[in-house]
Amino acid sequence: MKKNFGAKAVITPLPVLIIATYNEDGTPNAMNAAWGGQCGGKHIALNLGTSHATTENIKRTNAFTVSFADKKHLAASDYVGLVSAKTEKDKIAKAGLHAEKSEFVDAPVITDYPLTIECRVVSMREELGEFRVVGEVVNLSADEELLDEEGKIDLGRLEALVYDSPAHAYRVVGERVGSAFKDGLALK
Ligand SMILES: Cc1cc2nc3c(=O)[nH]c(=O)nc-3n(C[C@H](O)[C@H](O)[C@H](O)COP(=O)(O)O)c2cc1C
Repeated sequence: MKKNFGAKAVITPLPVLIIATYNEDGTPNAMNAAWGGQCGGKHIALNLGTSHATTENIKRTNAFTVSFADKKHLAASDYVGLVSAKTEKDKIAKAGLHAEKSEFVDAPVITDYPLTIECRVVSMREELGEFRVVGEVVNLSADEELLDEEGKIDLGRLEALVYDSPAHAYRVVGERVGSAFKDGLALK
């Protein structure tokens, strides 16, 4: 027996993306975004509220970076999703995070997070009361501690957070349970 919950959007897992941009006065800013994902092999799409400082920053600079919130930085990652740069000027410092300028785009890289994507904006539009932005990935960087013996990114080492929207909770990405494009072959 299934129970209906009505018109309620739930997607799982939702990522916990930390979007970093520059404010008009040059201070780095960050916000938490769960409504975002990959579209195609080289693009990232975000769905942002129209009044956020981040939204205004992206419109002005045409750039942003995306880091993946990890267990180690859970409180800081939640904090940047609770407070706006419109009321707290230096959110990044207050969160205990650190930023340096991206080599590739006009946006900061938050150095505390081990995995970061740098994007230049290729599309933005307001629709359904939200601001949709698509960024083309121009660089992906990872801390050495994330790399395996062959120098490849091992997401198992990241302890990435996912957002559990029904419970308003954060969970950690867990164990490897299978191999994509392979385990299904047994049923072919
Ligand atoms: C778990 C979580 C997920 C969030 N996801 C989004 C999102 O996908 N889109 C959005 O516009 N705001 C989202 N927010 C809210 C923004 O992060 C928040 O309003 C932030 O203060 C905006 O900061 P800014 O004004 O400095 O840009 C989320 C907040 C939290 C805590």
